[in-house]
Amino acid sequence: MADLKLTGVEKAYGEVRVLRDIDLTIEKGELIVFVGPSGCGKSTLLRMIAGLERISGGTLEIDGQVVNDVPPAQRGIAMVFQSYALYPHMTVRQNMEFALKIAGQSKAEIALAVENAARILQLTPYLDRLPRALSGGQRQRVAIGRAIVRDPKVYLFDEPLSNLDAALRVATRIEIAQLKEKMPDRTMIYVTHDQVEAMTLASRIVVLEGGGISQVGTPLELYTRPRNAFVARFIGSPAMNLLPGEIVETGPETVVRLDSGGVARTAIPTSPEDLGLLVDLGVRPEDLVKTDGPPLYEGEVEITEALGEVTLLYFVPRDEGGQVVAKLPGIQADLRHRTVRLGADPARLHLFHEGQSLLYRDRTELAPA
Ligand SMILES: Nc1ncnc2c1ncn2[C@@H]1O[C@H](COP(=O)(O)OP(=O)(O)OP(=O)(O)O)[C@@H](O)[C@H]1O
Ligand SMILES: [Mg+2]
Repeated sequence: MADLKLTGVEKAYGEVRVLRDIDLTIEKGELIVFVGPSGCGKSTLLRMIAGLERISGGTLEIDGQVVNDVPPAQRGIAMVFQSYALYPHMTVRQNMEFALKIAGQSKAEIALAVENAARILQLTPYLDRLPRALSGGQRQRVAIGRAIVRDPKVYLFDEPLSNLDAALRVATRIEIAQLKEKMPDRTMIYVTHDQVEAMTLASRIVVLEGGGISQVGTPLELYTRPRNAFVARFIGSPAMNLLPGEIVETGPETVVRLDSGGVARTAIPTSPEDLGLLVDLGVRPEDLVKTDGPPLYEGEVEITEALGEVTLLYFVPRDEGGQVVAKLPGIQADLRHRTVRLGADPARLHLFHEGQSLLYRDRTELAPA
């Protein structure tokens, strides 16, 4: 049975519709990540699932029960916020005990739950410290500990790592992945702006855009088969290049003549009526390679960014489409102001017409690979 089911969920603040038509089924034990631009409604959706925000329309089911009107404490859900919101005058132990005391659990039960959570999160040595004597990462672990002691069925995380510095984020991200492994039957929903967190933690990613769901899929489904240009550019960094052009040959492979002058052969099948269709060819910066053959793109390098393991090339923008970016392996520092010819593997190219991927035309399910 699905653990969580949202059907036609909506949120409006007065006249302002923030979320609409949210249909989403989450299986027990999944780690779902919500991503999307700032203001698209990620936190609002999480807070509605938690019961902290009223659902304006549609239904939310947990374990087959409609819980729209069930108060937060009775939903079997715990939420961890970006700001840890620990009680500053209480020790780590007291912070973790608090909700259980309120719930009237016995001393023995509470002690067991706190010790268990402290062990899982490696907080045992810190149980008698106050939050101010902890590092940011340790405080965030205490906030997670307060959720674990309640043994919820569903954990909700709203950007839990965004207050941490880069190194601590990586360490805490790995801890969360391990925590999930220790609790395989617990469902987690996680909001983040961080691509790497989304790609590495998620069993499935939900991309939200403009108040609706743009695509749901495993991280690699979204990366390799984005449903639309928005998802294509949102997942992956730097973003996928979109080059406008026209289909000049159809069949099992499709040939596109690009406005920027190049020609691209893609492994995407099209039918004869697609001839002349205006499309955007999508190519990820990391899928572009230097070539001596007929180029997909040829241009002058405006700026290079040498990151060590890769070099980013930013080409002089032309009128047709925006700035093209290529990510080449290794150190390529001598390419600034030089003209570079680029090609790509036909199997790695994407085609969009009016923002929708040609792979998904007339289909609601994922097309076969
Ligand atoms: N109480 C409110 N009244 C009116 N509008 C609101 C209210 N709370 C949130 N909103 C609006 O709802 C939208 C969604 O907000 P939400 O906080 O869910 O976004 P988010 O995706 O979490 O963004 P961020 O990535 O910046 O955290 C925003 O446009 C916000 O301005
Ligand atoms: Mg938010």
